[in-house]
Amino acid sequence: MKVFFAALVLSSLLCIFLPPFAWAGDYADSAHGDTSIGVDRSTIDTDFSNYATGNCAHCHEQHASLGGTEPTPTGGPDDYLLFDVTSSNTFCNTCHDGSPVTGDVASQTTKTSGHDPATTKTPGNINAVCMDCHDPHAATEVAHVEATDGNTASGVLKNVAGVQATWSAPSNPSNGTETLSAPSYTATTAVTKEYELCLKCHSSYAWGATPPTGWTDQGKEFNPHNFSFHPVTESSAGQQWNNTFIRANQTAAMTGNWALPANLDARMYCSDCHADNTAGAPKGPHGSNAVYILRAVGPGTTYNNLCLLCHRPEAGAATSAFGNHTTAKHQYPSNALGCLGCHAGNIGVGGRTGNVHGTNYRWATSGQPAIKFLVGGYITTLTSNSCGAAKVTGCGGHPGGKGY
Ligand code: HEC
Ligand code: HEC
Ligand code: HEC
Ligand code: HEC
Ligand code: HEC
Ligand code: HEC
Ligand code: HEC
Repeated sequence: MKVFFAALVLSSLLCIFLPPFAWAGDYADSAHGDTSIGVDRSTIDTDFSNYATGNCAHCHEQHASLGGTEPTPTGGPDDYLLFDVTSSNTFCNTCHDGSPVTGDVASQTTKTSGHDPATTKTPGNINAVCMDCHDPHAATEVAHVEATDGNTASGVLKNVAGVQATWSAPSNPSNGTETLSAPSYTATTAVTKEYELCLKCHSSYAWGATPPTGWTDQGKEFNPHNFSFHPVTESSAGQQWNNTFIRANQTAAMTGNWALPANLDARMYCSDCHADNTAGAPKGPHGSNAVYILRAVGPGTTYNNLCLLCHRPEAGAATSAFGNHTTAKHQYPSNALGCLGCHAGNIGVGGRTGNVHGTNYRWATSGQPAIKFLVGGYITTLTSNSCGAAKVTGCGGHPGGKGY
């Protein structure tokens, strides 16, 4: 009876009240609603060949049987007359596992690291399924282009809920300490920046003052008033990149779209770093066989291959103001920690995880702000990599350095 009633209500919604829906236009413009590339379950069950491509019925089953049998996939009925529940990924994965839709998102989520609700990795009380990050009635097929589109939420993320953040400057850290401050948050039903989606779960907004074990607070790290941060956020529109060397030598110091003059000062997606490590795989932080859903790692346990997707610190004309990037001893494998030996050293080398997002640390001895992610003072294990202790506790008199 309840099922019948639900069916009646939804059929009425689907048949009678469709035109007034605020999202009716959105649906017609969406990838799923598109009459040529949109939803089509006929490759899974031929009974659906009676429905036009893009028809709601490919997802919402208005009838318990079609052509005399329960349509594939069987089971249900489920909420909103869908052919499966949306509290897990199975509903979306019916089509997003490589067939009929090109691009296997389903298996991305079960890689070594990923947004996978089926595993027990979940810290705190949060979980992430497809529906947390996509609106099936609105998403378009237009994904973002790295650097060119900055941090602007793409059509793929259209109409997704998140949090808007307002940052203020953290208090001034005294020597040898770091101060970080959380922004204030306002919920939004439609993000305009990709990070507004991520911060819904990866900040104090989700879990209060104490991050789940192994996590740090990306809301604090990406404060655009910090001494260093990768340019995901901005304190006001048009904020310039922090690094004057990169700004002045952009075309030589950066790679790909980051080197295009039109993209100077461009902001980033979180998923410019967090995505599948397989070339050509669907975009987005669904999963990766590299740790932390990173687009690249290695050689060894370093993150160098990630950094080198965008930076050219060692390439001829691009050599940074710090000439010793080219010194063999500073390079892998002589320096087994790679870039993180000097920049953003993580927990494994005496620092905190997530330094590469942003830091607001002040050097102990010199009192200099640790700009450029130069948090070497945290790093306790560099001494075993033929770098003298005096050089790492401040990079003070480091040849070629600038006194940090
Ligand atoms: C790609 C699959 C898909 C297609 C196609 C689709 N929907 Fe949905 N629809 C969903 C999912 C998933 C939900 C559950 C939403 C939730 O859990 O918040 C839903 C929920 C709904 C709801 C109830 C909640 C709400 O969002 O208001 C209505 C009504 C609805 N859909 C109508 C439609 C109509 C009308 C169409 C065609 C114009 C359509 N849907 C096409 C997947 C789809
Ligand atoms: C009945 C098959 C079907 C189901 C079920 C389905 N999709 Fe899709 N989805 C498609 C098709 C077809 C496209 C358009 C593919 C293209 O762009 O060529 C699409 C496109 C998308 C896009 C736009 C990006 C892109 O590559 O085009 C997103 C995002 C998306 N789907 C997410 C979801 C989510 C989330 C769910 C579950 C709530 C879901 N889909 C369920 C068939 C489906
Ligand atoms: C609805 C909550 C939610 C949202 C939104 C969300 N995440 Fe997550 N994220 C999680 C959970 C929960 C995990 C742990 C893995 C799991 O159980 O799915 C995770 C894991 C991760 C990890 C791996 C962390 C580790 O320790 O290995 C990264 C990186 C990540 N998310 C980045 C992002 C990015 C980038 C976005 C925005 C595009 C985002 N997340 C949006 C909940 C969320
Ligand atoms: C410049 C590349 C880059 C960008 C941009 C980036 N990350 Fe990360 N992220 C990393 C790296 C590298 C690690 C591994 C950290 C470590 O070992 O210190 C990481 C770790 C993480 C982790 C797990 C560890 C932790 O401290 O919580 C989460 C969650 C995460 N990132 C989420 C995000 C979110 C959300 C965004 C955007 C707001 C983002 N990242 C932007 C490179 C990046
Ligand atoms: C997806 C592209 C991308 C990746 C990957 C990336 N960066 Fe960056 N990085 C940038 C951009 C863009 C800037 C310019 C930001 C600025 O100066 O404000 C930048 C700035 C920097 C700076 C200068 C920051 C400052 O405040 O002066 C350092 C140092 C740096 N990155 C190191 C790294 C390291 C180490 C890694 C690898 C763990 C890495 N980056 C990965 C894009 C990237
Ligand atoms: C934690 C948030 C998150 C979750 C969970 C998530 N996605 Fe995504 N997805 C994204 C982001 C971010 C992008 C990249 C958007 C862009 O680049 O503009 C994306 C991209 C996509 C695309 C387009 C890929 C391309 O190359 O154009 C599809 C299709 C898609 N997601 C489907 C799914 C499906 C199906 C699920 C569940 C199995 C899912 N997503 C789970 C955040 C998420
Ligand atoms: C031996 C320590 C060390 C290592 C290892 C190292 N860097 Fe640096 N890097 C520095 C110092 C110090 C500066 C600051 C130079 C200055 O201010 O003159 C710097 C500056 C930078 C800058 C900003 C450009 C500038 O001159 O301000 C980028 C980008 C950068 N490094 C990226 C990397 C990447 C990527 C790697 C790994 C491939 C790496 N670094 C490895 C010490 C190091």
